[in-house]
Amino acid sequence: MSRILVTGGAGFIGSAVCRHIVTHTPHACINADKLTYAASLASLAAIEAHPRYRFHRLDICDRPALDALFEAADIDAVIHLAAESHVDRSIDRPAAFIETNIIGTYRLLEAASAWRDRLEGARRQAFRFVHVSTDEVFGSLGPAGAFNEASPYDPSSPYSASKAASDHLARAWQRTYGLPVVLTNCSNNYGPCQFPEKLIPLTIINALEGQPLPVYGKGENVRDWLYVEDHARALLRVLEAGAPGSTYVIGGRGERRNIEVVTAISALLDEKRPRPGGGSHADLITFVADRPGHDLRYAIDPGRIETELDWSPRETFESGLALTVDWYLANEAWWRPLKERVYDGRRLGLGRVAT
Ligand code: NAD
Ligand code: TYD
Repeated sequence: MSRILVTGGAGFIGSAVCRHIVTHTPHACINADKLTYAASLASLAAIEAHPRYRFHRLDICDRPALDALFEAADIDAVIHLAAESHVDRSIDRPAAFIETNIIGTYRLLEAASAWRDRLEGARRQAFRFVHVSTDEVFGSLGPAGAFNEASPYDPSSPYSASKAASDHLARAWQRTYGLPVVLTNCSNNYGPCQFPEKLIPLTIINALEGQPLPVYGKGENVRDWLYVEDHARALLRVLEAGAPGSTYVIGGRGERRNIEVVTAISALLDEKRPRPGGGSHADLITFVADRPGHDLRYAIDPGRIETELDWSPRETFESGLALTVDWYLANEAWWRPLKERVYDGRRLGLGRVAT
């Protein structure tokens, strides 16, 4: 058994990683999260009482707190997910993205290096730092081709630029200080417990409430969708078998135009929860002003992780989307308080907001 520090474990992907570790591996999971607006401890209800799970409220920018946690929890590995993650919020207010994604990652790399330097023998050899990043660091693709591990960095948004910076720091700490970093760049995730600011949960919840379904621009932008539990499994494979110093791009060959995503959600809801007054949920689709700097297309070629680490997704976009819609239908108690107290669904990301 290893003791795995998961940063950002109260967020969307982090909570899936924590649930995966506790449910499907012998390892202990130490979740360190600042509990920003995007966090929900309710996402961890299924494991919160498990003896191999612990939660610590912690800001990754706080180096003394990180040092104390590495020592107290006697950490063997890190899966680093804590971040500000929403492109639209980064357009409105970039500061928190620079703080957490760049400075926070720097502090965490320093704390992990210092802690690893204190380990000896086999434990020191086995120590790993999985840095979780996004395909958005590569910028926009044209109509053809896909990102792979050799794709050049070309980020467009403050979010993707801050993640690109964190990737460069993680690689530098591997090359310069020998920290055994393995880096991942994953495509868009969807699934249970995603904060309802992102396209798929926002669309499901707006549709359930009879609200307009905002589609940016013409809805022609393409994202490559991966079910979150497939991503969590991939990250554990990378932790177990990824070579230090290497990168894996992760995706599920699930490219869809945004308008196709919103139409598919509408069709599922027409079947599972027909509109009270009749008509299709698709009638709620509203084309709105485009996002500034909106990347046209992301797509991943996951050949390396499929062949080297024997990973492949279990869900198709259709099966994963049906699971996701069912989850939001069954878990209004999870999203209703967020909608009422944290984020009411208003449009974000139209331009810098004065602070
Ligand atoms: P999220 O916004 O749902 O969760 C982020 C979590 O990090 C929250 O629980 C938040 O409280 C925590 N956090 C933020 N700042 C912190 C700080 N300073 N200290 C400690 N904790 C802090 O994000 P997500 O969608 O789950 O993404 C997780 C990671 O995966 C991010 O690094 C993101 O860049 C990356 N990623 C996301 C996607 C996606 O589609 N969502 C795709 C690829 C990669
Ligand atoms: P999002 O879920 O914010 O993820 P990302 O920007 O990281 O890809 O957006 C996914 C796509 O959906 C992106 O092209 C922007 C678009 N979008 C809409 O059309 N309407 C919306 O209300 C939102 C939130 C996003």
